[in-house]
Amino acid sequence: MPVPVQFLPSPLPREPLATAAEWLALARHRADQPNPNAMVVASVGSGGLPSARVVLCKEIVVDPGYVCFYTNYDSRKGQEIGAHPRVAIVMHWDHLYRQVRIEGQVVRAPAAESDAYFRTRPWQRRVGAWASAQSQPVDSRADLERAVVETAQRFGVPVPGPEDAAAPAGTGDNIPRPPHWGGYHVYADAVELWIEGESRIHDRARWVRTLRPGTEAGAAPVVLDDWRCTRLQP
Ligand SMILES: Cc1cc2nc3c(=O)[nH]c(=O)nc-3n(C[C@H](O)[C@H](O)[C@H](O)COP(=O)(O)O)c2cc1C
Repeated sequence: MPVPVQFLPSPLPREPLATAAEWLALARHRADQPNPNAMVVASVGSGGLPSARVVLCKEIVVDPGYVCFYTNYDSRKGQEIGAHPRVAIVMHWDHLYRQVRIEGQVVRAPAAESDAYFRTRPWQRRVGAWASAQSQPVDSRADLERAVVETAQRFGVPVPGPEDAAAPAGTGDNIPRPPHWGGYHVYADAVELWIEGESRIHDRARWVRTLRPGTEAGAAPVVLDDWRCTRLQP
């Protein structure tokens, strides 16, 4: 299937996240990659050093303009975000010749939203969210598997195997969201859209806007102005 657009929309859109969301939807539809919603999230570690890993984008919410992903709040990234609530994100779809870069302020998703999403997850992953102290050392694979077995026993569910293995309806419905697991909303204050061009003459534009951090702890940032756009040399 041909890639429909080889240049950024013209004129450039007033705001960039709808285009980013369209690209994500296109990548999902084409299914060229096993995880078209994979994205690199770079946080700021101790001493100001960068640290990056891949997570899955749950969704791009165009208004008010954030990206959502789920993880363990006690993980390395969770601790780094807690100390310095800004990240840089990169999404790349090789088959679409497109890249999206997003920078922004991070807040936790509301607990009710994380609860609702946790309930939609396969029961095996709900067990995993309790069993794994993400980013902490573990002595052996056997210790990790023991933790999974103990967690399954604690909640009275089978020991997780392949996710498509049959289990009675309602299995794991009693497993609540762990307090240390949930979503983050990355409120974008900078977005760059990039499309590969011939002879490396790529098409690039960057949008910025101003966010004021929420007044109460954990509150969403306040958008202070409209997006401003600049076309960039490749
Ligand atoms: C394709 C892919 C998708 C992933 N999705 C997630 C995710 O959505 N959430 C998550 O916490 N980790 C995810 N991971 C694992 C992370 O890359 C990382 O190993 C983990 O979050 C621990 O990172 P940290 O120690 O920096 O906190 C994913 C890894 C890959 C390769």
